[in-house]
Amino acid sequence: MIKKTILSGIQPSGNLCIGNYLGAIKQWEQMQDDYESIFLVVDMHSITTKQLPADLRSRCLSFVAQYIACGIDPNKSNIIIQSHIPQHAELMWVLSCFTYQGELSRMTQYKSKSKNLKNINAGLFTYPILMAADILLYQADLVPVGSDQKQHLELCRDIALRFNNKFSETFKIPEPFIPKNGARIMSLQNPTDKMSKSDVNLNSIISLLDEPNIVRKKINRSVTDSGSKVVYNQKDKPGLSNLINIYKSLSNESADYIENRYKGKMYSDFKSDLSDLIIDTLSPIKLEYDYLIKNKDYLLKILKDGTDYGYKKSQNTISKVYRKIGFVPRVR
Ligand code: TYM
Repeated sequence: MIKKTILSGIQPSGNLCIGNYLGAIKQWEQMQDDYESIFLVVDMHSITTKQLPADLRSRCLSFVAQYIACGIDPNKSNIIIQSHIPQHAELMWVLSCFTYQGELSRMTQYKSKSKNLKNINAGLFTYPILMAADILLYQADLVPVGSDQKQHLELCRDIALRFNNKFSETFKIPEPFIPKNGARIMSLQNPTDKMSKSDVNLNSIISLLDEPNIVRKKINRSVTDSGSKVVYNQKDKPGLSNLINIYKSLSNESADYIENRYKGKMYSDFKSDLSDLIIDTLSPIKLEYDYLIKNKDYLLKILKDGTDYGYKKSQNTISKVYRKIGFVPRVR
């Protein structure tokens, strides 16, 4: 039986955090047995904001090692660095000609990222088209992401449908896959904002590579709300509810169950157990990561396999697209 394809990606900016793990990587790991899987390190997306070249280079390899340490198995899944496949940029240009300025200016992520910037680069604005190209290039069926990417996915579907209607069936129309738990983990310091791997305040995020004592410190210092009862109430207790959400996603227990367990106990008891739960999840990841990151040749081999696979797949799509829009085929 032909397996359906899942595809997702993460920008190599900042430190991979527990938000990325619960919203995306954990789902990838669970789905990779049942789907043909493609996981991207989207370095071309990350240069829409300032990056130091040497840091970007080493972070890309570090992200590959972290994907594998989180359970992405290179024997089952394809791991690809976006810039290794030139067809991403090629398809993006074509799709740009079928995307409206009005659509892009409605993107909430663009609005919030560009809010305090003086000179907004065009890449930040056209970024969702590159994301659509990533997905459509590989004819993905399902895209496992956190809820912040839903609007980008909807735009991707609109662009694909528009193209298909104009030139006949060319792209699969992808569906988002957003987990029930963990789709939007909030900042530990400002629980009305999303936890973001590029947050300059490192106390706001739990990084996947944080040492146990750091995890404990960050959870202890996380902003909770007045009161002392461990109760889930997103509106009135956003800080505590965010911690309960993290607990829920890691333990697969319901909020009711967790509330019951902490009846008559203090926030500090809950925070201490939550720290244990996070440390139990992250410790094996860190151990495996420390081993993998020293094996650069192994990581490069996985990337070579990923590129070979990705090049072939994406060349199929780009040839089809170029033919349909009327470009003269290249003589080889
Ligand atoms: P990025 O790099 O911001 O985030 C990577 C993935 O992590 C999820 N995520 C979260 N989930 C729960 N809680 C959070 N606080 C949290 N923060 C991030 C995101 O939803 C995402 O799934 N544009 C994308 C990257 C991308 C992509 C793609 C994704 C480029 N091309 C193609 C899927 C398919 C982004 O900036 O994700």
